[in-house]
Amino acid sequence: AIKTIDDIRQMRKTAETLHAQGNTIAFVPTMGYLHEGHLSLMRKGRELADTLVASIFVNPAQFAPGEDYDAYPRDPERDAALAEQTGVDILFMPHKKDLYPEDYETYITQTHLPGHLCGRSRPTHFTGVMTIVAKLFHIVQPDYAVFGQKDYQQLAIIRKMARDLDFGIDIIGGPIVRESDGLAMSSRNKYLSPSQRQSALELYRGLEEAKKAVARGETKAAALIETVKKIISSAPETGIDYIAVCDPDTLADKKFIDRPALMALAVRVGETRLIDNIILYPQ
Ligand code: PAJ
Repeated sequence: AIKTIDDIRQMRKTAETLHAQGNTIAFVPTMGYLHEGHLSLMRKGRELADTLVASIFVNPAQFAPGEDYDAYPRDPERDAALAEQTGVDILFMPHKKDLYPEDYETYITQTHLPGHLCGRSRPTHFTGVMTIVAKLFHIVQPDYAVFGQKDYQQLAIIRKMARDLDFGIDIIGGPIVRESDGLAMSSRNKYLSPSQRQSALELYRGLEEAKKAVARGETKAAALIETVKKIISSAPETGIDYIAVCDPDTLADKKFIDRPALMALAVRVGETRLIDNIILYPQ
């Protein structure tokens, strides 16, 4: 049966005991309201190590004032049942007051990667993500940690942080899991009305059209971005934050698809901000 831990010291001790007994640990951090995207990462973690730890914590540090911290969907009981079915051994659900006491004042920054894509409109977001992930890494002490490519920039930033700060943790990426109609799974999809959900489908449809254009020989990033922009902006209630074609490692903008490139976008559908991405391979 799954073991639920909410105490930081108990989680740390459990990890230390597991290591002392020769067990490896795989870790999947989440903010809960679990869906098949999260579960796919847990299945990957299950294969990687002896013990699988998942965490659920809605991290206030990665939400800016006015973002959806309070509204973020929560369902811990359903999450625990899903995690158990998926083979999670330990579910770590720490409390905000323990991770961020009143006098908390230490945050992690990174020089280049957070300046691109989502970091432009959410300038404090990745500092919040790096800080909580570093704290969770110190508590859970995993050998492997699994993150989704849905949040491509987050994965790249955490990979870099783990290397730069000598965490000695293997950071593993998992592919984007989609609904059968193509919409990338997200806990935030819950916010969408039926008509907004229809508009949200245009994000993936736009990316697919860009992929087709590349297959037809289009190499100019600007033309591809224009194609996607037309598709998405034609759908009701959409507001484009960015559509970018960039280097998959540095996230710097690219003008031409001469090597595999990341096409990433963020779009508001009503009040809900959605992200998606795809890798474009040159002909
Ligand atoms: P959350 O949005 O709950 O996502 C947890 C993990 O699931 C992340 O690694 C994310 O990339 C992955 N994920 C989400 N949707 C996915 C999908 N459709 N397909 C594949 N993977 C998907 O990302 C966070 O939480 C937080 O920023 C966190 C890393 C937990 C730090 O607070």
